[in-house]
Amino acid sequence: MTRVVDGELLQDAARRAHRYLADLGNRSVAPAAGAVAGLEQLGGVLPEDGLAPSKVLALLDDAGSPATIASAGGRYFGFVTGGVLPAALAAGWLGSAWDQNAFSTMTSPAGAAIEPIALGWLKEVLALPHECAGAFVTGATMANFTALAAARHGVLARAGWDVDADGLFGAPPVTVVVGEEVHASLFKVIALLGLGRERVVSVPADAQGRMRVDALPALTGPTIICAQAGNVNSGAFDPIADICDRAHADGAWVHVDGAFGLWAAAAPAYAGLVNGVQAADSWATDAHKWLNVSYDSGIALVRDAASLRAAMSMSAAYLPTGETREPFHYTPDSSRRARGIEIWAALLSLGRRGLADLVAGNCAMASRIAQALRDAGHQVLNEVVLNQVLVSFGDGDTTNRVVAALQEEGTCWCGPTVWKGRAAMRVSVSSWATTDEDVADSIGAILKVAAEITGSRN
Ligand SMILES: Cc1ncc(COP(=O)(O)O)c(C=O)c1O
Repeated sequence: MTRVVDGELLQDAARRAHRYLADLGNRSVAPAAGAVAGLEQLGGVLPEDGLAPSKVLALLDDAGSPATIASAGGRYFGFVTGGVLPAALAAGWLGSAWDQNAFSTMTSPAGAAIEPIALGWLKEVLALPHECAGAFVTGATMANFTALAAARHGVLARAGWDVDADGLFGAPPVTVVVGEEVHASLFKVIALLGLGRERVVSVPADAQGRMRVDALPALTGPTIICAQAGNVNSGAFDPIADICDRAHADGAWVHVDGAFGLWAAAAPAYAGLVNGVQAADSWATDAHKWLNVSYDSGIALVRDAASLRAAMSMSAAYLPTGETREPFHYTPDSSRRARGIEIWAALLSLGRRGLADLVAGNCAMASRIAQALRDAGHQVLNEVVLNQVLVSFGDGDTTNRVVAALQEEGTCWCGPTVWKGRAAMRVSVSSWATTDEDVADSIGAILKVAAEITGSRN
């Protein structure tokens, strides 16, 4: 008889997970220092004889759960982090039990079949061209990597060079253009692709962080322009339609990093922000941000499927061939978990209207937070066009002290950042779990902490 996992163990895991999630609203968002110190209990000498699985789980819960940051709850506003939707969480559990290798149709018919379904829905809600090919990866960094590998292939192929066969040695130089406010992870990606983080051409940005089209240099030779839909600080969008007009006239490839901003397309009231984004050549986005699936999950989309295939494909005698979409031809990884499952489940459980409400609701909450802070006399540094709010509480030292005290106070969690040379607190509202009450409680906590800190300075 095949060995079967003890049902009581799985039920215990479900009970513990449920208790954890149900308690999130009653605990400090940041873990207590004592709880973090308690993580030591997870270490020690690896025992000769293993512990019973129920005891392993109990230790993880007892020592680990209190030391987590409550990012699955409704009052975590750090790093553009989504929570995890019920259907995505539950489907993810079932998917873990399936333990599928989404490498190919052979290793996982279900894992492979779910990807094109989810991709089709994604293209619909993100209003991207139906001919795009796509890849399910760990996050926006790898999605940018995957799409830019396709871009590198595409622009060099047009110059008569097969970069995937011959590498970059002796290749025509590729110019990579970024906006001054490009996300830091893009430099890692550019370095990984051998395009040289110090070689990029940086285009000045305006006061909201949008690339200035009038400052684009003359584009000659193989060129990739990395535009941005949603600046991680201000939420602002590059003028992608204008960038595409300029770039395409000169034969350049336009890639859009839309880690969270692309989701504006799903909410009619915000879809205007992504006007023209369909004209680009490739896109990267996260599912673990605004789609609210659990970590880790990102998606790369590329209009020219052949370029993505050329950059990612592999062949070996034992691999399937034919017309069917084989996931391994589209991703940098080979064996990998079936990430499409949670994306599929999240989209199906939300429907178009649920997704629109999620995005628009979070944006309205961000506006409400910004207004409350302004009303209290604090300075909001950005135009709040989406879900990001940047606040200053005075000089840099005061602002940083407010952020640290707020994290310590525990009602909510916002992170520090620097915007146009000024220290700021960044509030990102991107969770399905955030309620109006969470917003009210968080505003109350921010104002109370800010009054204590700024008051103590007067
Ligand atoms: C605009 C942008 N690009 C890329 C990233 C990197 O995303 P990830 O950490 O999911 O790889 C982020 C993360 O916040 C982002 O906001």
